[in-house]
Amino acid sequence: MSQFPIPRRLTVPEITSRKGKEPIVSLTSYHAHTAAIADRYVDFLLVGDSLGMVMHGFESTLPVPLDLMILHGRAVMRGARRALVVVDMPFGSYEESPQQAFRNAALVMKETQCGAIKLEGGKRMADTIHFLSERGIPVMAHIGLTPQSINILGGFKTQGRTREQWAIIEDDARSVTEAGAFAVVLEAVAEPLAAKITRDVPIPTIGIGASPVCDGQILVMEDMLGLSPRVPKFVKEFGQVGAAIENAIRSYAEEVRARSFPAPSNTYELKD
Ligand code: KIV
Repeated sequence: MSQFPIPRRLTVPEITSRKGKEPIVSLTSYHAHTAAIADRYVDFLLVGDSLGMVMHGFESTLPVPLDLMILHGRAVMRGARRALVVVDMPFGSYEESPQQAFRNAALVMKETQCGAIKLEGGKRMADTIHFLSERGIPVMAHIGLTPQSINILGGFKTQGRTREQWAIIEDDARSVTEAGAFAVVLEAVAEPLAAKITRDVPIPTIGIGASPVCDGQILVMEDMLGLSPRVPKFVKEFGQVGAAIENAIRSYAEEVRARSFPAPSNTYELKD
């Protein structure tokens, strides 16, 4: 039996039971120290594959390898003690078969000790979601705008803006729910469709660009902090961290050039 105190984290059933009761608050996180701050305020943290674009400067999420997700997943698990941590499955690590998905998702869970994984895709991923959930891997689904499919979608485009598109997205929501997903991310989905899905499915909908009707909200942390050079319309910048970083670096450079930093208070003297 373990002798070490195990931090009390929010569980998958606790997140699911919030449906229709209390809004679910979440952010992406890739980094131990910001995870520790966010942990005091959010219900779950997503180690999203957006880290490829936000942290590593890729143009899309497609190049992100599994080992990068594991590395950042471990960092976030070290920083967060209370929030449920969900790790994204990157492109190419789960789509081939339920068996491939299980192998890689189990590796992610063993290596990071996260509480759940997320994968993109609706009806086409239903068998995989069922396979994983039956074998002890909680799955958060992700439908609407699925960034790993931008080459098919033709870009980062809002989904469900015309009623003809609704049936497919509604079918995706129903399929992932019946397959056993514990929650579903709705990304860049028009409000009336997000409202209908949120009413119709018994699992929480987590919106990102899907209006306040969803059961919860998620944003990319760097976007809401004001650290990303460009953000979509659905992002509100709650801080101006990019400007604060630039001011700090400018002051540092000026003080080094003026030889006013390091000051005596930053300098070691002899002891005697
Ligand atoms: O990777 C990510 O950050 C995500 C969110 C946009 C939900 O999947």
